[in-house]
Amino acid sequence: MELSWFKKGTIYQIYPRSFNDTNNDGIGDLRGIIEKLDYLKSLYVDILWLSPIFSSPNDDNGYDISDYCAIMPEFGTMEDFDELLRETHKRGMKLVLDLVANHCSDEHVWFEEAKKSKKNPYRDYFHWRKPAPDGGPPNNWKSFFGGSAWEYDKPSGEYYLHLFTKKQPDLNWENQKVRQEIYSAMRFWLDKGVDGFRMDVIPLISKREEYPDAPNVGFRQIIEDVYANGPKVHDYLKEMNKEVIDHYDAFSLAEGVGINDKNAGLYINHDRKELDMLYHFDILECTIVNGKFEEATIFDLTNMKSIFKKWRDAVHEKGWLANALGNHDFARMISRFGDDDKYWSESAKMLFMMQATQNGTLNIYQGDEIGMTNIVLDSIEEVRDVQSLNFYNENLQSQKYSIGYALERINKEGRDNARTPVQWSDEINGGFSTHKPWLKINSNYNKINVKNQDQDKNSILNFYRRLLKTRKQYDVFVYGDFEELEFDNPNVYIYKKTYGDEKILVALNFSTHDTAFAHFNAISEIEVLLNNYQELLLNDGEAILKPYQGIILKID
Ligand code: GLC
Ligand code: CA
Repeated sequence: MELSWFKKGTIYQIYPRSFNDTNNDGIGDLRGIIEKLDYLKSLYVDILWLSPIFSSPNDDNGYDISDYCAIMPEFGTMEDFDELLRETHKRGMKLVLDLVANHCSDEHVWFEEAKKSKKNPYRDYFHWRKPAPDGGPPNNWKSFFGGSAWEYDKPSGEYYLHLFTKKQPDLNWENQKVRQEIYSAMRFWLDKGVDGFRMDVIPLISKREEYPDAPNVGFRQIIEDVYANGPKVHDYLKEMNKEVIDHYDAFSLAEGVGINDKNAGLYINHDRKELDMLYHFDILECTIVNGKFEEATIFDLTNMKSIFKKWRDAVHEKGWLANALGNHDFARMISRFGDDDKYWSESAKMLFMMQATQNGTLNIYQGDEIGMTNIVLDSIEEVRDVQSLNFYNENLQSQKYSIGYALERINKEGRDNARTPVQWSDEINGGFSTHKPWLKINSNYNKINVKNQDQDKNSILNFYRRLLKTRKQYDVFVYGDFEELEFDNPNVYIYKKTYGDEKILVALNFSTHDTAFAHFNAISEIEVLLNNYQELLLNDGEAILKPYQGIILKID
């Protein structure tokens, strides 16, 4: 197996709008990140991934780019960026940008030109189709964020495709010029010295010819079969690699939307020279149905174990994964998979023990290192996320669900949960800004904040630091072979990992009661590497795990 720098590394995702505000306008900025670089370094993370920082009208908070080579003025200037990159590198960390190449903003000059006439040279940068015979959209495709994926352009009498909001027209990758535009934007940043890209919805770039209607199946299946994995996606990725990435010491992390364990290898197997790694959606979506948050399912540990196993088997020694339990598109991991109330600290630490001992590059999200939790938004006026707003408005119209239910689901699974400002201290607005933040801060910032936890040696924050430091010392955390014990036990997750001479045993109690497990007889020497409780109850070869207790043992 090739051991590259990014494999053992930890990626820390920053959502710049919510990270740290230095000019007090209520919006995080690049100088805010610079100010916290020493903090980030103190976490033992290696790679910073910034959600988009490019010019954008912010219909989808920067995932609608109007200029790929300019910094969003709210975030600062190109000088700020250059300084951020320099200072990141100075501390021995890498910087990765978010490449949104499937679509741009309708305020990008390409689209503004394209709209001018059917003959405009930029017209073919996008997907235009004639109306269906009844004047409606050309096919039945639905946007990820609700409604038709086609928007009518009256002057030309044609529809354009937008798989996300109507302010995010899809780029036409069939057009060689479009690909070259994206490649040159990538080179612009790589020449400055950035270390790679996270690739937004990259499996969607190749569209199926003639835009076939989607069958009447669940949305996830539609994504896999109709929107993602188009006929030329692998040609494009190979070309991108050959023309751009290969010329730099840079890596790519794909957002694996529409990728499953069967076709993942086509994207990430080393010999294919396409993408370096991906994060998939199976864990991220395991408490919702069909990738849509209106329908809930119960969190189930055995299901989670099988997902981890399935993916491990799928990529084994051929490709590479990144492991994420949360990001800016999902509610807070502790609120979804742990207990954000009574066992807040224990479950946050335990979840992190699980994440940090799965094979692959570790991918953590801002605020999870202090156990930030979901927020309660009291009314729709407080909601900022376009996906949640569309969901709410569609429901108002169709009356499919009650308003109360819509808001309940937004609070439970909506994306704003992960986007509330980072809680730095118990000062006004959590030390994020002296100005009212663009999105409400969680009122628990008095209790949950970096400053408190920095001083407390038993805090979640200091546990993250210890765990990340330990993970650097043992290759087995990242590369080890798995042997699972009590696979069908719905309360505990137990596994041994082996890599060369290194062996660890991980035992995690996902329940709220004491749970015994009996695998100590066979273990000769034990060293406790990490334990999220002060004590470990051992009794005649049996260990009793407290609620949400997790241990990582070095064994012989
Ligand atoms: C990705 C991003 C998400 C965005 C969407 C459209 O899923 O992570 O935030 O809304 O792509 O760009
Ligand atoms: Ca600011």
